[in-house]
Amino acid sequence: MPAISHLFFRAGILFLIAGIGLGLAMSISQNHDVIGAHAHINLLGWVTSAIFGGYYALNPAKAEGLLPKIHFWIYTVGVVMMGVALYLLLKGNTGAEPFVAIGSLLTAAGVLIAAYVFFAPAHRGSARMQPAE
Ligand code: HEM
Repeated sequence: MPAISHLFFRAGILFLIAGIGLGLAMSISQNHDVIGAHAHINLLGWVTSAIFGGYYALNPAKAEGLLPKIHFWIYTVGVVMMGVALYLLLKGNTGAEPFVAIGSLLTAAGVLIAAYVFFAPAHRGSARMQPAE
């Protein structure tokens, strides 16, 4: 599996642990105030990261070069910033709002990079033939 897939899955499982932690905390406290942070961390952080990791694993030629790394870092930093800031905002810290905005824009930029990767042709000369087993 390409290194970028490992990175996406490792980030994703950390997001899932954080998202489930928030879900359990909401359930136990019977206070669902951070539902927005919980849902976004799970769906953008875990589900979408795992889909990106799976995409690169299925298309190893697309995993080569600098762009997948830029994709990973912009997307992951965006989701971390958005998730933490959204949690703080929902807890009443209005100062976190600009960071929700910046994190959201980074996350959206990561998705646009993914769209470019999905539509662009694979790296030339990188689709190595695997010997038959
Ligand atoms: C042990 C794991 C989990 C626990 C304890 C948990 C707990 C909760 C709780 C207490 C709520 C609030 C429900 C409400 O107020 O209506 C909620 C909402 C939600 N959760 Fe989870 N959750 C878990 C895992 C997940 C996962 C893995 C995902 C997504 C991949 C997810 C996605 C959502 C979404 C989208 C909502 C909002 C639903 C709505 O607004 O109708 N949750 N969760």
